[in-house]
Amino acid sequence: MKKAIRGRCLSYRGNPFTEPLSDCLHYEEDGLVVIEAGNIVAYGPALALQRDVGADVAVTYYKDAIICPGFIDCHVHYPQTEMIGAYGKQLIDWLNKYTFITEQKFANKEYALKSAEIFLKEMLRAGTTTSAVFCTVHPQSVDAFFEQSAKLNMRNIAGKVLMDRFAPIGLKDTAQTGYDETKELIAKWHGKGRALYAVTPRFAPTSSAEQMEVTGAVWQEHPGTYLQSHISENKAEIEWVKELYPNRKNYVDVYRHYNQLGPRAIYGHAVHFSDDDFRIFSESGTAIAHCPTSNLFLGSGLFQLERAMTGVPSVRVGLATDLGGGTNFSQLVSMNEAYKTAQLNGFALDAHKAFYLATRGAAEALYLGDSIGSIAEGYEADITILDLKATPILDYRLEHAETLEEQLFALIMLGDDRVTRATYVAGELVYERDHETGSMRFIGI
Ligand code: GUN
Ligand code: ZN
Repeated sequence: MKKAIRGRCLSYRGNPFTEPLSDCLHYEEDGLVVIEAGNIVAYGPALALQRDVGADVAVTYYKDAIICPGFIDCHVHYPQTEMIGAYGKQLIDWLNKYTFITEQKFANKEYALKSAEIFLKEMLRAGTTTSAVFCTVHPQSVDAFFEQSAKLNMRNIAGKVLMDRFAPIGLKDTAQTGYDETKELIAKWHGKGRALYAVTPRFAPTSSAEQMEVTGAVWQEHPGTYLQSHISENKAEIEWVKELYPNRKNYVDVYRHYNQLGPRAIYGHAVHFSDDDFRIFSESGTAIAHCPTSNLFLGSGLFQLERAMTGVPSVRVGLATDLGGGTNFSQLVSMNEAYKTAQLNGFALDAHKAFYLATRGAAEALYLGDSIGSIAEGYEADITILDLKATPILDYRLEHAETLEEQLFALIMLGDDRVTRATYVAGELVYERDHETGSMRFIGI
C-alpha cells in the first residue's frame, strides 16, 4: 500500500565539498515523499505530486519539522554501548581497561541480544537508520546483532571482530577459526534481507601476520562484502604498528600488503594521515570513517577533513560515532564535533556539508550511494523527521534564524536525540517521540 510523508524535505544529489551547492541540494519547502513496498516511488513538490498520488493514499504531515534521509553511521561498536564515556587515558589503556573486559561478556548470546536491542533503539532515537557495526570476536555476537536488526528490516553492515593476539584469552580467535567463522557468517547473513557483512579485523596490532593474510584472502573471496578496521588513530598505536610490522613502510602499507584496501573497505579515524596515505586511499577507493566525538574523547587528534574532501585527490569520507570511544549516538552531535575539529584545523565546516557527511556522503563512503542516504525516486525509504521545536531553546533560536542554512546549523549546535521526531525504516514508522511530553514509542522492537 502506498503512503506519503509531507513537509519540508532536505536531500543531496551531489557532493557539496566539490560541486556548487545549487547543483547538490534538493530542498522542497512543501515536499511530498511517496513510499511503496519500502521504497521511495516519488519525491517532489507536494502540490504537483498530490494529484498523481490519489485521495486513497494516507499522507502524514509533519509541521515544524525537516524530513531528511535517515542518518548513516560509518563506524560503531554495539558491544561498547554499556561502557560509553568510560573515563580513561588514551586508546591502548582504554582498550585494555574497559573494552576488552566488556567485550568478553558477548560470549553469552542472550547478553548480546539484549545489548543489540538497546543499541538499535538508541540508533533509532538518534535518527540513524544504517550503521557499519563492529560486533565482538564471538560469532554469536553477530547472530544476535543481525537477528535484532532483521526485526526492524534495517540496512545494517556488521561483522565478527578478528583478533588473535594482545587480548585476553576469551577474546582471541586464531587465523584458522577466524577465517572459518567469517566464511560461515558471510554465508549466513550477507544479503539476507537488508543485512550486509563486513570482514572485521580489529586493527593491525591485534592480528598476527598469519591472520592478516587470511583476512585479506577471505574478503577477496567474497566480492560485495565489506572490510572494516581502524587506522592511524593514536600516536602510540602508530609507533606500536611500526614495531610489530618492521618490514612495512607504514600503517597504510600494512593493510595494503595484506590486500585490505579497496572499494567497500572502510577505516575508522585516519587522524594522523600523510598526503601519501590520503593518495593511496583515494586511488584504491578505500573510505575513511570520521569519528570526531571519539577522536576528541580519547585525545587522539584532529582529522584533516578539508584535506580529505577537497584535496587532490579526494577520499570518500563518512561521519561516524565510534561509540563507546565516541560519546553520543546522535549524528547531529557528531556534526557538531566535526565542526569544532575542523575549526581547530582552520576550516569552518558549513551545515550542508555536515549533513551531507551523515547522509549521502556516508552512503557514498559505503558504496551504497545509489540506494540509501538520499530522498529520491528509487531509493530505500529510510527517513528521519527532525523536530524544529524539540526543545525550548531550539524553538527560540530558530525564530531568529533566517535561512535554511542558518536553521540547519542551529540544529547541529543545539540538537541531539531529542530532535528525532520520527524514524522510518524501509517505509515503516519504527520510532516516534512526542515533543510536548517527550514520550517515546518503538514499533517492531
Ligand atoms: N582500535 C582498536 N579497537 C578499537 C576500539 O574498540 N575503539 C577505538 N576507538 N579504537 C580501536
Ligand atoms: Zn572503532
